[in-house]
Amino acid sequence: MFCKILLVFCLSFSCYISDANAGSSECLPRRTKYGLVCVCTATHCDYLENPQPNDNEVVVVSSSKEGLRFAVSNLRFGENSTITKSNPLGSSAEEKEEFKNAAVIVDSGQTFAQLLLNTTKILTSRLTSNGPLELQVDRAVEYQKITGFGGAVTGTVSYLLELLDQQLQDHIFKSYYHKDGLGFNLLRTPIGGCDFDMAPWAYNEEPRDDPKLSNFTKLDPHDELKVAHLKRLKSVSNLDDLKIMAAAWSPPPWMKSNGVWSGFGVLKTEYYQAWADYHLRFIELMDAKNMPIWAISTGNEPLNGIAFFFFVHFMSLGWIPKNQAIWLNDFLGPTIRNSKYKDVLIFGNDDQRFSFPTWFNRMNSTRPGVLNYLDGFAVHWYWDEVFAPSLMDLTLKQMPDKLLLNTESCIGDKPWQTHGPELGSWERGEQYAVDFYII
Ligand SMILES: *[C@@H]1O[C@H](CO)[C@@H](O)[C@H](O)[C@H]1NC(C)=O
Ligand SMILES: *[C@@H]1O[C@H](CO)[C@@H](O)[C@H](O)[C@H]1NC(C)=O
Ligand SMILES: *[C@@H]1O[C@H](CO)[C@@H](O)[C@H](O)[C@H]1NC(C)=O
Ligand SMILES: *[C@@H]1O[C@H](CO)[C@@H](O)[C@H](O)[C@H]1NC(C)=O
Repeated sequence: MFCKILLVFCLSFSCYISDANAGSSECLPRRTKYGLVCVCTATHCDYLENPQPNDNEVVVVSSSKEGLRFAVSNLRFGENSTITKSNPLGSSAEEKEEFKNAAVIVDSGQTFAQLLLNTTKILTSRLTSNGPLELQVDRAVEYQKITGFGGAVTGTVSYLLELLDQQLQDHIFKSYYHKDGLGFNLLRTPIGGCDFDMAPWAYNEEPRDDPKLSNFTKLDPHDELKVAHLKRLKSVSNLDDLKIMAAAWSPPPWMKSNGVWSGFGVLKTEYYQAWADYHLRFIELMDAKNMPIWAISTGNEPLNGIAFFFFVHFMSLGWIPKNQAIWLNDFLGPTIRNSKYKDVLIFGNDDQRFSFPTWFNRMNSTRPGVLNYLDGFAVHWYWDEVFAPSLMDLTLKQMPDKLLLNTESCIGDKPWQTHGPELGSWERGEQYAVDFYII
């Protein structure tokens, strides 16, 4: 699923309403039940067109709840400016909302318990901080480099793309991956099926009990379609260096203790090497299609098959840190590092923030040295409202040489939320902005 990231800039000057955005990139606005969207058709789609600041200039890109979409203004450093932009659907009742820039400032030093005790305070600050925010940037202090931004291409994405004609598909690819669109450069994709697919599937489902994976000699038809879409995505987006991260949700059921796709199930120890070979085989077959894999993870959400199987009914493979340490250190790590694909990055955990850094500490105590096989950590965003970002700080403090990648942040997963798009939902955009800001 493509998860769009909205960045909201709250600056110390106001946005007023005047003349309309013109040009081929104009947003064709349409109101929905949830908010405002720009209509993209085969013949018209709006783009940002990659504005470049000159020396001493700032480019401000404004999107607003009231209807601005990628409105571009060039300002100069050191001057006070007022941005004047039109609201395509402008009405004075809506304009007022523009000034309510709610901000949630979470102190990253807080622990989970402190955060709970401070909840009232945080809610209060959310309601009262309507004024402009002043951000002070100390250029001398640098933190981690940003590897990039991206989305995911799953079985349902392939299915949905096939419902559209080529021109609309191209607009989707370009809107996300072209530098005139969001300029994404990362992409996550499942090895086999996942919870965003039409049905569970894996390679070598038959024959069973086949550690040599004798039937995993070519890609699946699902992949043929995906590879065709990705080739097109790269070509219409002018993107040579698409960084693809692949992760498996579940092996074929015969490799698992419970013999089915979901529920409480772990990898049978006799298949530890087969499951490592399965990953390498996928990397080789994708490379043979000229679609190199940049990174893999040790598997999607290992806790689903151990602790959360009452709620999670999709493909999963359970791991506890101890067993995952053995598999990574004795099987997957050496298999990848002794292969032609030794430079493929390996990310650990690929699960929620609340398991950081304990997951890695436990792995480390089972197999000292196992963490050397990991290039980075992959984290998902579910429950970030409850678990403080200080867990990530603590993890990176212990292991400062690792990359950190947020590999999943879909919205609508909770029982009380809409399971699907809320087209134009500003609230959902804010949830992304707030979460990525405090990660
Ligand atoms: C910008 O505005 C602020 C507040 O009105 C003022 O204090 C400051 O001197 C102004 N700066 C410039 C460069 O005009
Ligand atoms: C609440 O937040 C403040 C600062 O934001 C912090 O100093 C304090 O330790 C937090 N926890 C509690 C229990 O007050
Ligand atoms: C190999 O897998 C295909 C499905 O991908 C299946 O139709 C076929 O029967 C399998 N071959 C064997 C020998 O099990
Ligand atoms: C790993 O274990 C060693 C001791 O065996 C310890 O010094 C180190 O801090 C541990 N690292 C992590 C990240 O748990």
